[in-house]
Amino acid sequence: MPATEFKVPEKYKYLNGFGSYHESETIPGALPVGMNSPQKPAFGLYAEKFSGTAFTAPRKENMQSWLYRILPAAAHEPFERSSAQLSGHSEKGSAQFEQIPNQLRWDPFDIEAGSDFLSGLELVSGAGDPSTKTGLAIYVYSADKCMEKNRAFYSADGDFLIVAQEGSLDIQTEMGKLLVRQNEICVIPRGVRFRVELVEGEAIRGYILELFQGHFQLPDLGPIGSNGLANARDFQAPVAFYEDDVSPWHITAKFGGQLFDSRQDHSPFDVVAWHGTYYPYKYDLGRFNTIGSISFDHPDPSIFTVLTAPSPVVGTAVADFVIFPPRWLVAEDTFRPPWYHRNTMSEFMGLISGAYDAKAGGKGGFQPGGASLHNVMGAHGPDAGTFDKASEATLAPQKVGDGAMAFMFESSLMLGVTEWSLRKCQKVQDLYNEHSWGQLKRRFSPPK
Ligand SMILES: [Fe+2]
Repeated sequence: MPATEFKVPEKYKYLNGFGSYHESETIPGALPVGMNSPQKPAFGLYAEKFSGTAFTAPRKENMQSWLYRILPAAAHEPFERSSAQLSGHSEKGSAQFEQIPNQLRWDPFDIEAGSDFLSGLELVSGAGDPSTKTGLAIYVYSADKCMEKNRAFYSADGDFLIVAQEGSLDIQTEMGKLLVRQNEICVIPRGVRFRVELVEGEAIRGYILELFQGHFQLPDLGPIGSNGLANARDFQAPVAFYEDDVSPWHITAKFGGQLFDSRQDHSPFDVVAWHGTYYPYKYDLGRFNTIGSISFDHPDPSIFTVLTAPSPVVGTAVADFVIFPPRWLVAEDTFRPPWYHRNTMSEFMGLISGAYDAKAGGKGGFQPGGASLHNVMGAHGPDAGTFDKASEATLAPQKVGDGAMAFMFESSLMLGVTEWSLRKCQKVQDLYNEHSWGQLKRRFSPPK
């Protein structure tokens, strides 16, 4: 359903703007005026500062929020290592990756029966290490149950960029509630406690990029100018929402790749008011302003970047989140699908819906809920069928990707894959390479 036709239920209210300084209070007067930490905050609340960057980070990068809550987050029993751990990690929490140069493609991942958002998390790929705040991890999630009652989760390791592929996520966070539907994404920053419920029991499936290093930002627009791609006003943060609940709660922390549990006798969702720049947010991919060639040649896919997490090397991302929305192709005398290429970056792709224009769909193809990985210097491009069609196509203006949305997590790092993703899930398409490029015909015809 187009975003414009969807009426957001009353319980979700949002503040618009990317990186904006927001404030929200559920009780008028809960936010102190002109200061952050009064001797006695209003209504007997505690003030708690929540830092997403170093205190001394430059002002334009500095991210922090002040929370005014019933009890500070510190009021919990000690954490103990959880009996349930994430797949793909060693006993000590380090991710167990294999590096392989082959192109990989996966059939749609199963929705694990009886799983919730936490137990249904599977590590697929990644690089780096959260203890040194380097790199990223890529998961798929699936669930047909809500998270256990009175359980909240946070990752101390990284920001979760969640791509909703199937079903809607009803996410309660410390800052308020987010409804994340198919074709939407959200970012839950490092440390923010949240829980995920299903909407009307509908199962969920999707992808997560966990960013160990820095935070996502909007890409610079350069000569594009001051508007275009993802516009800042379309990002939505929740308004404050609190519950005054003294029943037992469990907090699961992801810390250094391991899960730990702790108990407390109050809800972690007790923030009556907050202000600042460090908060979860969502974005409807249908609002992306897609830009492309109106003369000739296919631009680099970086033109489709929604969010970027820069590395210290200028112009080089730890991770870019890139989408391929429905769009018009009008380039003249041009091979219109993506070109054949090899890339120093690695490209993990997923399909939210529909068919991706560089690959034929159908059984064994690139399907919604599946994925592909073209790693550092992994050669790839259109499959033989797509090449033949595009080479002979009449170059009239053409709409591609109607009803489809593919995305890419692109990284400057070499991405490893896990035992689960390579073997255990049994979704790897053995004949991906052969079916895609093994049938490319020789066309060389030198002048006689
Ligand atoms: Fe590529």
